[in-house]
Formats: sequence, structure tokens, C-alpha cells
Amino acid sequence: MFYVKVPWGFCATRDRVLNQTTPLDIEKAIDLLQAGEVVGMPTETVYGLAACVTISSAIEKIFSTKERPFFDPLIVHVSSVEQAKTLTLNWGPVAQALSEAFWPGPLTMVVPKADSVNTMITSGLDSVGIRMPAHPLALELIEGVGIPLAAPSANKFGRTSPTSADHVRKEFAEENIFVVDGGPCEIGIESTVLLLKEQIDQPASLSILRRGYVLQADIEDALKARRLSFKFTESVSKKESPGHMKHHYMPALPFIICEDPKRAVSDILKEVNARLPEIPDEIESIRILKPKDGLKAPARLLLSTDPVIAAREFYSRLRDLAETAHDSILFIREPHQTGERWESLFDRVYKAATLVLN
Ligand code: TXA
Ligand code: MG
Repeated sequence: MFYVKVPWGFCATRDRVLNQTTPLDIEKAIDLLQAGEVVGMPTETVYGLAACVTISSAIEKIFSTKERPFFDPLIVHVSSVEQAKTLTLNWGPVAQALSEAFWPGPLTMVVPKADSVNTMITSGLDSVGIRMPAHPLALELIEGVGIPLAAPSANKFGRTSPTSADHVRKEFAEENIFVVDGGPCEIGIESTVLLLKEQIDQPASLSILRRGYVLQADIEDALKARRLSFKFTESVSKKESPGHMKHHYMPALPFIICEDPKRAVSDILKEVNARLPEIPDEIESIRILKPKDGLKAPARLLLSTDPVIAAREFYSRLRDLAETAHDSILFIREPHQTGERWESLFDRVYKAATLVLN
């Protein structure tokens, strides 16, 4: 058996990933983390670049290695609910219910931070994002270190997220980062980030800051089943969600989305080439390599018809295509790709895009 059932679906068993990683690798990773180094950590969503939350210089190293601005806060990874409670001032009934329903798993809860949490992790906010990952090696690492681990996705800021140990090694080849190999990620897109505000005698206020595998409908079902009152709100200030950017996950080649499945590729290319001057050479500090004499040979990004599999494969396919000799990447959206689960994936697809044609 390769998978075990967890509340939100399935997760790799330790046996499955042992062929890539030895107990010595885990020991080495624990030593490095305790010594204040950063380490590549597998999770069920994407690989993280982990550091001990209590070592300030290690947290700083995450930001410098990733070239990430300090305004974008980090998620803290725990191996138990007890550990999560030490990071927050308020662990209410809704947080407890959601942890029971979705942990270990791809749900990050943003709750009021405890005074002890380093403000560098939270970018000066008074909230902290916490999740318990559903990967046996991630849990083993956190338990082994004995301290929660802060970990953003293990990619340079703004670039495509990593879903294999190799992706991380390549991304940080110069920095020579040690990576615990936990095999390919099962989910393939980052966790759902949920802002949670609980006050006694009032319905909990919930806002999804980033879509992910756990859907709003799943959260509603879990809370209704436990008879807890809540309301979802859309309006979240920029201050509450500082990591929200128009562009993210970008490959270095032009990545074109066409929303009309009936258009011929030749027609799409004609419009893109006419609009090429519109595409900046640099977007959010990512250099886009525009071919001088126009796009000629786009590589087609094809996705599975199953949105769960499509999400699992998306980043890896995008990386592979960006490394081939093609001059651009083209994705043509299909009419069946609608609904909340597809939207979680398309949140990433559109942020990675250089140009969208209707
Ligand atoms: O699946 C995941 O969440 C992966 C794995 C490694 O766990 N991690 C991940 O981290 O995607 P990162 O740093 O790439 O994205 C974290 C997102 C950012 O958009 C950040 O702004 C948001 O979570 N976030 C973290 N703490 C927050 C807080 N206190 N308030 C609002 N947003 C927060
Ligand atoms: Mg990221």
C-alpha cells in the first residue's frame, strides 16, 4: 500500500518514501536545522525551505536564500495541535474543529500570534499562519527538531513552486541546500490559507486568503457538522494578506493563456506577436525572455481532465516546458474546467501567465 487515508484524502506512507531517504538523511537534516541552517522539506503540497522558528538568523536565512521581501510572512509547520496552541493567543472552538477535520493536511490557519513568535516570521503582523503537514517525513523532522519549523515554498521569490526534491536542488544549486527527498508531492499546489477570527458569543469570521486543495465548501461542511456558527467574508485588506500578488509562480518564458478553445494556434500566435511590445521584459523582478523575432514554436501545456491530478502535475509540467527548447508556453482553457476545485488551480495558472487572450 502506498497511501494512507487522512481526513481530507490520502497521504504517502513512510514506507513509500523511505526508498529515497534514509534515517541518516533525517538525522543530518535535524542537525542542520538545530544549527540554524535552512533545509529543503517535503510536504504533501509543495516542498518547503524550512528553519527553526526560534533561531532568528535561520529565519533571516530563509528570506535571503529565497530573495523574498520581508513583507511576505511565513507559514509555521507543527507536528501536533498542542504545538500549534503554543504559537497563538486564541485557539478557539473553530480552530480546534478545523484542525480535527483537516490536519494533518493542506489547510493553513491564520490566527492571533503569541508574543513569543518572532515578528520576522509574521512580517510584523499580529497574526501567524499555522499548519500541520500530511507528509510523514515533514512530521518526523518537526518532531525530531522538537520546535515548529517556518517554511515558505522552496523556490526563489515569485518563481514556480517545487514539487520534487530535484526541483529544490536545482533552484538552490548555488546555495547548495540540503534537501530531504520525500518523493513527488501528492497535492502539488500550496495549502489553502484561511484567516480565522474567533470572538466569544459571535460567529467566527473566515476569509480564504489563498485557495488550495481544501475548499470553502469542505470548511463549511466541517463546521456545520459540528454545529459551529461562522460567516465567510470576501473583503480582506491588503494589510491582512500581504503576500497577495498579481503575478507569482512565473516561468522565464512567455506563458500565454487563451480562454477560447475554438481558436487555432496560428491565430493565437498572430495576436500574441502583434501584442508582444505589451509584454514587459521584467514582471515583479522576474525577467521574461521574449524571443526577438516573435513567438514561433510554443510548447502546449496540457492538463489532466481530473482537477486533482491536474493540480498535482501543474508546477512540474510548467518547469519541464520552461526547460525545453521552445520559445514560449501556451495553455488553452477548456470549457469543462470550472468549479471551485479548478479555481484553486487556476489561481496559480493565471498568476503565472504573461498574457491572457479571451
Ligand atoms: O502548502 C504550503 O502552504 C507551502 C508548504 C511548504 O507548506 N508553503 C507555502 O508558503 O506556500 P509560502 O510562503 O510560499 O506562502 C505562504 C502564504 C503567503 O502568501 C503569505 O502571505 C501567507 O501564506 N501568510 C502566511 N502567514 C500569514 C499571515 N500571518 N497573515 C496573512 N497571510 C499569511
Ligand atoms: Mg510560495
